[in-house]
Amino acid sequence: MDILKRLRTLLGLLLLSLLTACTDTNESAESHQTAQSSPAEQLIVYKSPKCGCCKKWIDHLEDSGFDTQYKHPKDLGAVKERFQVAQAIRSCHTAVSKQGFVFEGHIPARYIQQFLANPPEGAFGLAVPAMPVGSPGMEVNERFMPYQVLLLKKDGSTEVFAAVENAAQQYEEADQP
Ligand code: CU
Ligand code: CU
Repeated sequence: MDILKRLRTLLGLLLLSLLTACTDTNESAESHQTAQSSPAEQLIVYKSPKCGCCKKWIDHLEDSGFDTQYKHPKDLGAVKERFQVAQAIRSCHTAVSKQGFVFEGHIPARYIQQFLANPPEGAFGLAVPAMPVGSPGMEVNERFMPYQVLLLKKDGSTEVFAAVENAAQQYEEADQP
């Protein structure tokens, strides 16, 4: 194998590990709360203890006023099954609201707020499949990969809830109809 080829392989591996960004983190607290006067939306996040990007996403939610708890189930796949998160739209973590709405993956907090403020008829949640680079919790320098937030419908179909074209859009105030 020539040097160039070997370098390319190494770079590929490095990129891959950056993309998954799931590193061991020390997590001591089971839940934490933000000091907020208005009642915060509560979410339970099912995740793996080894995934750092989930923790970063939780921090993003807390910063946006959510009250989160997390759980580390032995079988995360079974949890996704239980909450009807189809194989094709799965990501690393699954969050569930008090009312039973499901939020899969690195969804910006503003879209969860928008959904919960007015849950669309026939929908049970939102999903950002896989782990787009630049989404909340998946920051890699200034890189950003456009992605869609999908609306999950009870009949098993999905619709585009939001097309996220740039990083700034993720942190804008939710439009109130
Ligand atoms: Cu992730
Ligand atoms: Cu995650």
